[in-house]
Amino acid sequence: MARPSPPDFSNPDTVRDPYPAFACLREHYPVYWCPHFNAWMLTRFDDVYAAQGDARRYSSDRIRQLVNAQLPEDKRAMVEPFVEKASRWMYAQDGQAHQASRQLLSRAFTPRAIDALRADIQAIVDELLSQLSDEPELMAELFNQVPARILAKLYGIPQKDALRLRRWTDDILVFLVGSLDPAYGPREALQGLEEMYEYFGDLIDQRRQAPEDDLVSRVIAAGEAAAITKGNLLAQLAFVLVAGNTTSADMLGIGLLHLLLNPDQLQALRADLSLMACAIEEMLRIDPSGQFSHRVLREDIELKGRMMRKGELVFLVRAAANRDAAHFLDPDRFDIRREKNDHLAFGRGEHFCMGTALFRLEAHIVFTSLLMRFPNLRLIDGQPPVWRTNNLQFRGLKTIHVELH
Ligand code: HEM
Repeated sequence: MARPSPPDFSNPDTVRDPYPAFACLREHYPVYWCPHFNAWMLTRFDDVYAAQGDARRYSSDRIRQLVNAQLPEDKRAMVEPFVEKASRWMYAQDGQAHQASRQLLSRAFTPRAIDALRADIQAIVDELLSQLSDEPELMAELFNQVPARILAKLYGIPQKDALRLRRWTDDILVFLVGSLDPAYGPREALQGLEEMYEYFGDLIDQRRQAPEDDLVSRVIAAGEAAAITKGNLLAQLAFVLVAGNTTSADMLGIGLLHLLLNPDQLQALRADLSLMACAIEEMLRIDPSGQFSHRVLREDIELKGRMMRKGELVFLVRAAANRDAAHFLDPDRFDIRREKNDHLAFGRGEHFCMGTALFRLEAHIVFTSLLMRFPNLRLIDGQPPVWRTNNLQFRGLKTIHVELH
């Protein structure tokens, strides 16, 4: 039988529900050169798993290639300041420079520091839940606010500034990997980045003069001990927000949607809230908000009969790997009791997500509080949730309207 045509990733319908496209690639084109992204796409679990763990051949120094892959040459000069700044994020570094940046944060981002946020997170969630309207749109009223407010708390910045963080991180992320929406172009990304750096530059100066008991002050102290420049400090502090804000907000919305679309699973969870940790892992597996990572090849690699060339971009499609039937039993089923669930939603290897404990803690508090407070929580008939379709990498809902009572 002839192979089906490969999917069209420039089509917003593919972005709205990418899973049939990923299934097609996994089965028929496991090593696929995508002309829309100018990148290879790997979709099988074993291939994604191996590449995520292979920093020697798969470099993370990716920002320039990502920008070049989507902008014609005459438009690139304008975003050069963006490329320069973003290339210093730990996420785009390799080897020793990467290790130094990671260490800078890990000294401040300890499990103890995260656990100490528990009461603050609960207070943020309780306050937002008590203010919900009768038929709330939960992205605006809850999910977009929770991670931004938590990160504001962690950074010791005023709660009123929290939503500005979300706007900046959206501007940067939607552009970074092929925006399908002109409202999120290179100009907006650059502006978002510059505003964010100005804000954090001022914050670093303030905390240098008067340290407080917050992440920024701890990172500054670690940076001074290791003689790290202000530019590098700024890059890593800003990147934590880029990495942790939009992804977490979207994951909360997506997670709730899967519960509401699977009433048997929701009921089982309500009946036994000790299943919560397992349910959160299943949300991350079946529909991760960050759908893929990118790498640049350091050498030619032949894989499954295709030759990928040194210098080319590769997308490691973790969302497709998470539904590979060669690795997961009945992978399209949302099963909060799944026993073997070694999903790749947080990546793997040297760049493994640094925010896993924080996300798991906030998701636990958000979902437990929501379910306990609103036993009749449900979607509204005739008002289905709406997916964003502006970017394949960062998946999330535009709106999710629910009835509470
Ligand atoms: C559901 C929420 C989240 C998801 C799905 C997620 C996913 C990921 C993934 C897949 C990576 C690796 C990227 C790569 O290999 O190229 C990553 C890296 C990272 N994440 Fe997360 N993340 C989430 C939340 C957070 C939060 C809340 C924070 C911090 C507040 C955070 C901080 C980081 C950092 C600092 C890195 C870079 C690590 C490095 O380059 O060494 N993430 N994240």
